[in-house]
Amino acid sequence: MYIVQIASECAPVIKAGGLGDVVYGLSRELEIRGNTVELILPKYDCMRYDHIWGLHDAYRDLWVPWYGGAIHCSVYCGWVHGRLCFFIEPHSPDNFFNRGCYYGCDDDNMRFAFFSKAALEFLQKSNKRPDVIHCHDWQTGLVPVMLFENYKYEMGNQRVCYTIHNFKHQGMGGTEVLWATGLNNPSYYFQYDRLRDNFNPFALNFMKGGIVYSNAVTTVSPHHAWEARFTPIGYGLGHTLHVYQDKFTGVLNGIDHDFWNPEIDRYIPHHYTQEDLEGKAKNKKALRERLLLRDVDKPLIAFIGRLDDQKGVHLVHHAIYYALQRDAQFVLLGSATEPGINAHFQHEKRVLNDNPDVHLELGFNEELSHLIYAGADMIVVPSNYEPCGLTQMIGLKYGTVPIVRGVGGLVNTVFDRDYDEKYLPEERNGYVFYDTDPYALESAMDRAIGLWYQYPEEFRKLVTQGMSYDYSWNHPGKDYLEIYERIRHK
Ligand code: ADP
Ligand code: GLC
Repeated sequence: MYIVQIASECAPVIKAGGLGDVVYGLSRELEIRGNTVELILPKYDCMRYDHIWGLHDAYRDLWVPWYGGAIHCSVYCGWVHGRLCFFIEPHSPDNFFNRGCYYGCDDDNMRFAFFSKAALEFLQKSNKRPDVIHCHDWQTGLVPVMLFENYKYEMGNQRVCYTIHNFKHQGMGGTEVLWATGLNNPSYYFQYDRLRDNFNPFALNFMKGGIVYSNAVTTVSPHHAWEARFTPIGYGLGHTLHVYQDKFTGVLNGIDHDFWNPEIDRYIPHHYTQEDLEGKAKNKKALRERLLLRDVDKPLIAFIGRLDDQKGVHLVHHAIYYALQRDAQFVLLGSATEPGINAHFQHEKRVLNDNPDVHLELGFNEELSHLIYAGADMIVVPSNYEPCGLTQMIGLKYGTVPIVRGVGGLVNTVFDRDYDEKYLPEERNGYVFYDTDPYALESAMDRAIGLWYQYPEEFRKLVTQGMSYDYSWNHPGKDYLEIYERIRHK
């Protein structure tokens, strides 16, 4: 099958979070299974060019219709660790992708509406006719809308699979985007059964368009698919998902075992396996040396993630102090885009600066994240909501016991050692708590730290049980291919 992925991220070149990992990992798996995969991405000025091989401007003259005129674009082509990627660069005074950031601009809706339009224009003009186009998140929600309304005649019978990674960000804004992209009939498109937001009568909603127009819609775990339909976590799209329930499913993400694997990880100094954990102990030592933590007989707890409301920052803050109180060490690697949250953790960093049992690293650091996964004993994921979550799956692969809140994909991947009766004791792999108050987190941390101190052999067993789980792309790759086949033949 010939599949084109259209997305705003692809790790490790463009990565703000798990979306990048998923777009890369799924593409690789689909290729391993014998399919042809190409990716279309924006050409941001700030992406990691050192991870692209053979970058060159393959198409110099792509004119993309925009507001009745047209914007001149170049399309660059290059390989990202073996994946063929096309990067779109518009030459317009708006400088859509030369902003030193991926997201967070006032005109994000326009930027990604343009990207979506340019991606379709590129497919059409370069005579690419994939069997399936796979789009991701709000940034590409308009792709199926424009494909079926404006390009169907030229393009033929392409099918679209649309994956929602985060319902909170839907791409809501004014209707001027319709004029810009050539969807020139607002009274048709700006209806509740098409692109009009369910709750804000003045707003257009990209993600809703993606749901309405795609042939298949997925989110990134089965439990989150349920939450999105039946709880406020659907952020107002529950009704739309209900209407389109026949084409909506949850497919659990995977992690790329070529990149996230303690046996071959190029970023960690000591490799190790489930059978021989000596390297893990050495990585713990190396991590402590690197972060100037003292080398004492204590468990090391980590948090890795975006510091924002979704990730339960109040509980992250609490976890740091509770770990210290319970004689454990704590390492945090987090990036905050919200100024208030950033200021808060900068302050904590200064306060804890001289404490030899804690290190807060603020910012994005891929390489350090690998050493933390490899060196820590436990990883906390106290999210308010979590569509899938990759850090607990990576933690499991690296023998780092997850302590998670029972929401979204965390429910589908972590099974409480003491209480999960659906699983046999030898199948359990971490600790789960449910409430959002600090005491719930404390009791889960207590159980984990207690086991580490009092029953080290039992703790070791839990570590190896976790490592034996296969959360690779093997299963989800198959699931997505089944979805593609289904929509192709409809
Ligand atoms: P989300 O996509 O909501 O941010 P996920 O758990 O799905 O959360 O994926 C997060 C990905 O980003 C993981 O690969 C994690 O290791 C990585 N990551 C998050 N924050 C950082 C950071 N500050 N530095 C390095 N890697 C990070
Ligand atoms: C989103 C979600 C996260 C998920 C990731 C990849 O950013 O917040 O839970 O793992 O996308 O699908």
